[in-house]
Amino acid sequence: MVETNFAVYDTEDIRRKDRDHIIHPWTDFSTFKEEGSEIFAESEGIYVYNSDGDRFIDGIGGLWCVNVGYGRDEIAQAMADQARRICYYSTFTHITTPPAAEFAHRLCGYAPDDINHLFYGTGGSMSNDTAIRIIHFYFNRLGKPKKKHIISRVDGYHGSTYMAMSLTGVAFDHVGFDIVTDIVHHIPAPNPYRRPEGMTVEDFCDEKVKDLEDKILEIGPENVAAFIAEPIMGAGGVVVPPHGYHARTREVCSEYEVLYISDEVVTGFGRVGHIFASEPVFDLRPDFIVTAKGITSGYVPLSATMIGDQVYDVISVPQAEGALFTHGFTYSGHPVSCAAGLANLDIIEREDICGHVREIGPYFEERLTELLELPVVGDVRGKCFMMCVENVADRETKELFAPEIKIGERISKHCQQRGLIVRPIGHLNVMSPPLILTREQIDTFVDILRESIVTTQDDLVREGLWKG
Ligand SMILES: Cc1ncc(COP(=O)(O)O)c(C=O)c1O
Repeated sequence: MVETNFAVYDTEDIRRKDRDHIIHPWTDFSTFKEEGSEIFAESEGIYVYNSDGDRFIDGIGGLWCVNVGYGRDEIAQAMADQARRICYYSTFTHITTPPAAEFAHRLCGYAPDDINHLFYGTGGSMSNDTAIRIIHFYFNRLGKPKKKHIISRVDGYHGSTYMAMSLTGVAFDHVGFDIVTDIVHHIPAPNPYRRPEGMTVEDFCDEKVKDLEDKILEIGPENVAAFIAEPIMGAGGVVVPPHGYHARTREVCSEYEVLYISDEVVTGFGRVGHIFASEPVFDLRPDFIVTAKGITSGYVPLSATMIGDQVYDVISVPQAEGALFTHGFTYSGHPVSCAAGLANLDIIEREDICGHVREIGPYFEERLTELLELPVVGDVRGKCFMMCVENVADRETKELFAPEIKIGERISKHCQQRGLIVRPIGHLNVMSPPLILTREQIDTFVDILRESIVTTQDDLVREGLWKG
């Protein structure tokens, strides 16, 4: 960590300025104006420090993104060097910079064989939007302008630009806002924990695959452009689909000329042990892979929409004279971001971060699974360093606590008091730590979480909110 004297931070002053001027993503205005923000000011490895100097294990990697951990001089140096060489140049109309070209080359080397092109953005939402714009353009170019509809899934999360939020299927996120409904459809989530009583996982998988086919037939295959899915649903509850789901939904898509977008914004860059999870983990060869977050381990914004040859070959055919591919952002392929991406990839390769995750991730899963001994824990699920605990009021019926009990938030608060950050999402607690977590750190992590859940259970009984 850089030499720090926490006295330089005036916590109250920062909090006041923040509260007076910043509108935060997902602000809860029922509490924000009273409580203000938590201030994280310093970091090192798997730890973040608040402005008073208290240390926390960052159990959520910033927001599923600080994959190689905090305080990496190598990334900071690469960014500084690049900013001195050439801080910025646009990549519009045939201009590039050395790091933008080199990073694209290295990323495509990790994608499935037939994905050899990418379009840079600065965030996952933007790169999902890019995928949709390109897909519409592709079908227009093919002379199939009716093919515009997109199928997504309930509880899928794809971002919060207008189109990305429309693709998102988390009902809570739509409350009070508008979304696009004429060309976006949601089919049920393949969540095995919530499958009908008595149904096998195999039958459930058949049903979820059929949901996709039924929806395509209902809309009419001639109108359906794409299916979008995260390999493992993240914000919607860390849902790992049944074995074979992705490969089979891919087959359905191929049958009806529907393109497959694999949203790997969270699963990419080692989180489940591979740079991209689609093919090695799920036997899925999508037409698009969307990636962001871990692409720079969060050191600076960057994202990429990776595009298969079939689509590229159509969109890159010369158009009417003078017509351009009119899509792009000022910061597409920003050289400082790409330099950070290259340094991040160097670290992932040199330290064999993916190998570490494949080796130690199952231990994290195993230790967390022990929490099923606790009466409030209904399910522990996920893969490697993408995990979640589902808390329920009744394990037999899987009944949830009333939302106002804020079970996830209570547990997270107890964790934070003990030096661990886990993310509450409704009744869930979600975990996505830096990928450098060691076995010993996993033990500390799980011990704190267990103690926090037990304390929460005791609180609920004491407050008369739960029988135990
Ligand atoms: C799977 C997935 N896709 C897209 C996004 C949106 O990315 P961003 O917030 O960078 O726009 C997220 C963000 O959490 C995500 O989890």
